[in-house]
Amino acid sequence: MQKRKVKVGIVGLGRLGYQHAENLSFRIPFCELTAVCSINEKEVKKAQENLEVPYGYTDYDEMLTNKELDAIFIASPSGFHCEQIIKALREGFHVFSEKPLGLYIEETQKVEKVVMEHPDQTFMLGFMRRYDRSYALAKKKIEEGAIGQPTLIRCYGIDPTKQLDGFIKFATKNYSGGLFLDMSIHDFDLARWYLSAEAKEVWAVGGSYSRTEFNELNDAETGAAMIRFDNQAIGIFVAGRNCAHGYHVETEIIGTKGTLRIGTVPESDQIVLFNDNGVINECFDGFISRFEQAYLSEVEEFVNCIIEGRQPAVSVRDGVESTKIGYACKESFENGQLVHVQNDRFVSN
Ligand SMILES: NC(=O)c1ccc[n+]([C@@H]2O[C@H](COP(=O)([O-])OP(=O)(O)OC[C@H]3O[C@@H](n4cnc5c(N)ncnc54)[C@H](O)[C@@H]3O)[C@@H](O)[C@H]2O)c1
Repeated sequence: MQKRKVKVGIVGLGRLGYQHAENLSFRIPFCELTAVCSINEKEVKKAQENLEVPYGYTDYDEMLTNKELDAIFIASPSGFHCEQIIKALREGFHVFSEKPLGLYIEETQKVEKVVMEHPDQTFMLGFMRRYDRSYALAKKKIEEGAIGQPTLIRCYGIDPTKQLDGFIKFATKNYSGGLFLDMSIHDFDLARWYLSAEAKEVWAVGGSYSRTEFNELNDAETGAAMIRFDNQAIGIFVAGRNCAHGYHVETEIIGTKGTLRIGTVPESDQIVLFNDNGVINECFDGFISRFEQAYLSEVEEFVNCIIEGRQPAVSVRDGVESTKIGYACKESFENGQLVHVQNDRFVSN
């Protein structure tokens, strides 16, 4: 039987949104990018022309009146996610949202309630690392007992120095939620996934070292958080915006019988250059090149979920829990105190 095509409208056509738009147009089977939306009209026109998209909007609410669409794909700045998810679900669409689910715990809990009220509509959150081949294989090995019981996770997520100026602009818009909610959120999700545990206590520190602008924004250029989980496992999370060698995403999981590492050296290819500078491995220059396959696989899964009438493994609860951890880190970083993460709320000491 011929599968039908899922018609998608995307909001947000920036760094990641445009990449998703290209994928939805050309690289995802049984999918058609039918509408694009951004507050920036030039971006809308460019996407419509380059990707041959019939409908273009500068107003999100207007896109939601287009009932040819089956699904809404949200790649707008993080501060808009919750409101846009709720509106799209209530208008009857399937929804994919980029991470984080939201910047505040209360708004993510509201989204969770609305997702639960619409069980026949697929909802997926963009925790794409779970769809990266290496991260998925690590999960399988942990489940098979390769490292015994996981007891510690150490994560690095550091953006390249050459994108620092762009990030300062991004941070100035106050859309990101700060270093931990923006960068470490993937690592918090991975930690919960690999450790099968929830965060209990958080202590986070950070600072501005090469650029003072982050201080003025009450944000950090480099930060670190230490977390104790409810099964006594330990998490160490390093996040930053100033990695000289490129985009460094590395994860280590230490267990009672072994250790797993993913991405220890963030090499972009198989080439090793030997010359008068020594031995050189070139590194990934950003998230799009590092997670190219994962961005495709997660969207394929979203479209298949819609066609098959099911929900993906990444749930709205994963979004709520990871935002809780990110927000607790932000609170700890700002107040210099240990923060207890408790069920559906958090309190400071
Ligand atoms: N999964 C990942 O690895 C990953 C990587 C990067 C970014 N992200 C997430 O993707 C989202 C977008 O990030 P980005 O780096 O592409 O941002 P960006 O600033 O480059 O792009 C934002 C886009 O949204 C548009 N926009 C802004 N406000 C809007 C509104 N109210 N309505 C409609 N459109 C609006 C902008 O014009 C632009 O097209 C963020 O939530 C970010 O956290 C995820």
